[in-house]
Amino acid sequence: MSTEEQIQQAASIIKEGGTVAFPTETVYGLGADALNAKAVAKIFDLKRRPSFDPLIVHIVHPAQLELLTTDYNDPEVILLTQHFWPGPLTLVLEKKSIVPDLVTAGLSTVGIRMPSHPIAQKLLIESRCPIAAPSANPFGRISPTEAAHVKDQLPGVDMILDGGKTQVGIESTIIKRVNEAWVILRHGGITQEALQQFVSITELEEDDVIDAPGMLKSHYSPQKPFYILQPEVLDTVDKSSAGLISFTGKFDEGFQRVHRLTESNNLVEYASHLFSAMHALQASDIQAIYAEAVPKNGIGIAIMDKLEKAAYEYSK
Ligand code: TXA
Ligand code: MG
Repeated sequence: MSTEEQIQQAASIIKEGGTVAFPTETVYGLGADALNAKAVAKIFDLKRRPSFDPLIVHIVHPAQLELLTTDYNDPEVILLTQHFWPGPLTLVLEKKSIVPDLVTAGLSTVGIRMPSHPIAQKLLIESRCPIAAPSANPFGRISPTEAAHVKDQLPGVDMILDGGKTQVGIESTIIKRVNEAWVILRHGGITQEALQQFVSITELEEDDVIDAPGMLKSHYSPQKPFYILQPEVLDTVDKSSAGLISFTGKFDEGFQRVHRLTESNNLVEYASHLFSAMHALQASDIQAIYAEAVPKNGIGIAIMDKLEKAAYEYSK
């Protein structure tokens, strides 16, 4: 666990234009001073991330919205921040010119969120600047939920703050206003049902033109073949050399390695362990990874989105 002193040191690195990986409640982020384009460029370089993919800016107090966006006074923005911040909700809002174009990939909008993790908050307070941070993994790889994942995947980062395993385990939900309603650009830690208690959420229509770069069909690609388990063809699977990410426990028998992510059909618990299980299976001696599908309700929508993206390359 990181000490006060280490957080101070990390804040100095951020202030001097360096990069720091830090825990949030969702996944680990790779942070730099959001208002320093040169520092932000290091993030893209370290992650080998294409510059068309914008970054989320992290703040520690809603009052900082005024610095970054012209929407800071919007009643629905205030309502959402009051109910869901700090926490895993990112709002895509009209940006002010102080936000470097590199952060937003040239878009007129900026994604902003206030994380609840105490180390993230402390780092933000000590750094005295908003921190731009994507998930701390090389582009297209599995998001890190432990400091060791960052160390293995991103050796070039100036410092890693260790906060143990992250609690939510999948990334924030990203929403953006389109006309009078909000659309979900990425399903994550906050469910659609929870958001709908405060604002209206609409589905994206096929012909809606919306700037949502970075929402690629293939993402989170494990380095081993990854499939969503089809129970009807279970007989054809070579289970003795495969790993299973299990939900119900019904299909566990015969697999070389099994990660049962919840004993009580709890989707939130499942989400919190998903990326850790993917990392562990990827690093193990198995030949292929299978994941049992989960019901598409609540956080299950976000889970299935991750599984489908991980399996995309192998399902063509
Ligand atoms: O939970 C999280 O959101 C984590 C932690 C570290 O905060 N961060 C994270 O960042 O998942 P990243 O870079 O892996 O994903 C950010 C995604 C981008 O790929 C992009 O699709 C979307 O957020 N995004 C950011 N700014 C946007 C904008 N202005 N318009 C549309 N999409 C945006
Ligand atoms: Mg990411």
